[in-house]
This record gives sequence, structure tokens and C-alpha cells, in this order.
Amino acid sequence: MSGALAEKNILLAVTGGIAAYKAAELSRQYVKAGANVKVVMTQTAESFIPAKTLGILSKQAVLTDGDRDGSASVEHVAWGRWADAIVLAPATANTLAKVANGLADNVLTETLLASNAAVKIMAPAMNDQMWHNPATQRNLQTLQGDGWTMIEPATGFLAEGYEAKGRLAQLETIILTTEQALFDGQTDGQRDAFDNQPLKGRRVVVTAGGTKEPIDPVRFLTNRSSGKMGYALAEAALAAGAEVTLIAATKRDCSKAIHLVLAPSAKEMLTAVEEAMTDADAFIGAAAVSDFALAKPFDKKVKKTSPDAHFTLDLVQNPDILKTVGQNKKSGQVVIGFAAETNDLLQNAERKLKSKQADMIVANDVLAPAAGFDKDTNQVTLIQANQVPIEIGPKSKSAIAADIIHQLVTILDGQ
Ligand code: CTP
Repeated sequence: MSGALAEKNILLAVTGGIAAYKAAELSRQYVKAGANVKVVMTQTAESFIPAKTLGILSKQAVLTDGDRDGSASVEHVAWGRWADAIVLAPATANTLAKVANGLADNVLTETLLASNAAVKIMAPAMNDQMWHNPATQRNLQTLQGDGWTMIEPATGFLAEGYEAKGRLAQLETIILTTEQALFDGQTDGQRDAFDNQPLKGRRVVVTAGGTKEPIDPVRFLTNRSSGKMGYALAEAALAAGAEVTLIAATKRDCSKAIHLVLAPSAKEMLTAVEEAMTDADAFIGAAAVSDFALAKPFDKKVKKTSPDAHFTLDLVQNPDILKTVGQNKKSGQVVIGFAAETNDLLQNAERKLKSKQADMIVANDVLAPAAGFDKDTNQVTLIQANQVPIEIGPKSKSAIAADIIHQLVTILDGQ
């Protein structure tokens, strides 16, 4: 999703908290990413940061309460309509309460009420007691029900002089959330990266999620994988025009056009993958497959009847799905795997590239700040034989998925 913010109209709505000064850097970063930025601010926000600063950084006049009378009085309606995305940051408890209730008593709340922007993001910042107040929490729920995406405040040193939840989220998180929300809000045809549908007529098989290896009828062995990366890859392949089979150990929402096969255990996943690969052009193994399964799962629930405090599970190695696909790949099929590593990233990824006979390995340092399980962002390096590694991110998993699919297109076209 390179350039998800390029040419996008972002309306930055700034309210009056101590974090208001951070709106300057936020607007600068949106502009740097190619977005058109307009700022609307409350009078209290103006007491924390001058409109002039935000005007210079956004390269546009700033809408303030001083413009409320006279010629600019209908600007708020035009600005609200102009926006592809509204980013309310920092959002005070007071403004959140007003917006949740449809009040319009200043230029900022008027603008928000008049807007039909598809993407609405709020990044609250306030005192921790105000944050935890049931009224604030109720307002936040109302806003989320109205389609607002909330970026939770961070925990840290508050202006009050103690450590608590309430600080404005990291600017990087706000930017990534905006990028992802704008990307997700696009229809397949609008995703400029894939306008020409480079995978039209191709079949792509993707695996996702952490496998679940049964212990007994009520328990299983699993891992921390959420399946987000695999699902994002399936969506990106679909956006590029492919016919997609997603074989997933974890159920999440996905486009109806994706053929979703649920396969909880490694063995079930292997069976489904082998069947899907008979007529596929590409395989992407994003699943976190458990390396071990029980030699013989129990048919009945295991009881703690034994007086012995120790209980040992007899585990045997699972089939390696990626390796099986790599070894059996037919001419023209492209095989892509992942390498989840905590150390020696590139060496381990190169070893996996060879041992699994893959065409590309997406090397993932799961301990990197933007990467890892259940995050919405990731940071990876693409490794191919005799090629310079390609570093991607940190950015949203959708953006990373689009870049991986671009690379798949390059490999398929080069064959
Ligand atoms: N994989 C697989 N089947 C397995 C284990 C892994 O298909 N039984 C695939 C994963 O989907 C991923 C790649 O192999 O695409 C690498 O997985 P990873 O967990 O990083 O490595 P392992 O192969 O398990 O090796 P190690 O335990 O040495 O890290």
C-alpha cells in the first residue's frame, strides 16, 4: 500500500489539551506522506498552539472560531465534505462528549457534524480519571458505534506528574491507523496499486493463523498467531485479481470472494493445502504451524485424578507444510514462506529459503517493536536467492501484504 496517504484529504481536528502541540508534528508527517491537510481547531487548542504554526505546516489556512462569523461561516460544511479522513487528535473528553451527542457549539464540532467522511479516527488524550469516568467510556462506545475508530491513549507520565493511562498515542500509531483505515476503505478497484489486476486468472493459496493441536476434547496446543498477516495477504491477492483460497486455523472476517477453508490442526491444514495446490499458481505460507502435536490425543477429558503433580505430554513432530509444498512444486508454481525469528533473522531466513525450497521467505523479527503477533503493523525483510534483501516497514499489515503481493507478481512475471 505504498502511498496510501498520497493525495488523500485529511482534516485534522485539534482540541485543547496539553498534547495539542503534537498536532504540529502530526500535520507535518501527513504532509510529508503526500496528504492534503487542513486543520480545524478549538479556541482552547489555540491557547496551546498558535493557528499560525499549524497553518504553515499544513500549507493551508486554519479554521478557527475567529472565522465563525462572516464569509468563512459556511467553510465548515465545505471542509467536512472535502475530507476523506477526519483525525480528531488530541481529542479531549469534552469534545468527545459533544461529538457523541451531536452538539455543534464551535467551529470544530460544527465541521465534524457536517462531515460525511468515510474514515473517522479519534485519538483521545486526557487525565486518567476523566478517561476512566463512565460518562467518557459511554461516549467512546457511542462514537465507535457511529463508525469512529479509536486509538487508545498510551500509559505514561501525565502532565499531572504521575504515571497513568491518558497520554496521546504515539504519532506513528496515528499515522499507521489513518493509512490502514484509508486503505481498508477503498474498494478493490480503487486500490491504485492493483488497478491493472496483475493476478487476474491466477490462483493463490494462502495459509493463516496459529494451528490448534488437540490434547483432549476440550484442550489444545496453540501459539500467539492472530492470523492477521495471512488474512491481509489473502485480501491483497484478491485485490490484485487472483482467485484466492485461504486455509486458516483462525477464523476472522474476510471478503466473501475469498474461498475460506478452516483447518485447525497442521494435519488438516496440510490436507487442505495439498488439495488446493493441484491447480494453484502460488502458495503463501503465513500460518504459524505448530511444530509438534500429541502422538495420541486423549478421547476423553484428562482429569487431575493422579496424585502426581507432573503430567507429561507425548509430542511428535508435525508435517512441515511449506517444505512439502516446496518439494512437490510443479513448474511455474511460486512458493513463499515466512520465517518467524527472535534472533539471527537473515541467516535463519536464508537457511529456510533453501531447506524448504521456497522462492521467497518473508523474514519476520517477531520481537521488533512494530512487528509480532496480534499487532496491526509489521516490519519484514524479503529474501530471495541471489538477490539483495528488500526491507519493508514498519507499516500496517495490509500495506506489507500489498508489497509482498507486488513481489509475487514480479516473480510470476519473470518465469
Ligand atoms: N511451516 C510449515 N509447517 C510447519 C512449520 C512451519 O508450513 N510444520 C512454515 C510456516 O508457515 C512458515 C515457515 O514454515 O512459512 C517457517 O516457519 P517458522 O515457524 O519460522 O520455522 P520452522 O520451520 O518451524 O523452523 P524453526 O522451528 O527452526 O524456526
